Amino acid sequence: MVNQAGGGQTGLSKGGQLQKDRRFLRGRGGQRFSALILLTLLLSLLAFADGASETYKARCSACHGVTGAGDTMIGKNLKLRSLASTGVQSQSDEELFVIITRGKGKMPAFDKKLSQDQIHGLVRHIHSLKK
Ligand code: HEC
Repeated sequence: MVNQAGGGQTGLSKGGQLQKDRRFLRGRGGQRFSALILLTLLLSLLAFADGASETYKARCSACHGVTGAGDTMIGKNLKLRSLASTGVQSQSDEELFVIITRGKGKMPAFDKKLSQDQIHGLVRHIHSLKK
């Protein structure tokens, strides 16, 4: 009904809609909104407690992509295979640990930048990408 108003009335009815929206935000919608914020906070806390996915995003995603698919500019240039691929997934925790620690080919070593715990976390993170 709001949008049916033509010409000079459009401004008026837009104002009406705006007021309704505000009321909506203050009312039930407001509660839902704060619940959403709480949920987001909780989830980011959980992610932080785990840490590995944060470390991955900060240290690895520039080359390997956020999902590990290697779908970044650098990843494509380096012809990275997906970290979820069988070729990567079939490697043991130890093998992945060594690759991340010492680096491989054009991949830099991370032994000076990350703790052993962080690297173990990344190995778990990579193996969790298995389809
Ligand atoms: C500067 C780009 C770059 C960054 C940053 C990087 N990598 Fe790599 N990564 C590579 C390249 C290039 C290879 C392929 C090396 C090869 O096979 O010669 C590779 C290979 C790998 C492999 C083996 C994949 C396979 O095909 O067997 C794993 C596992 C891996 N990286 C994990 C990580 C993790 C975890 C991080 C973050 C701590 C990371 N990489 C950061 C470039 C990068």
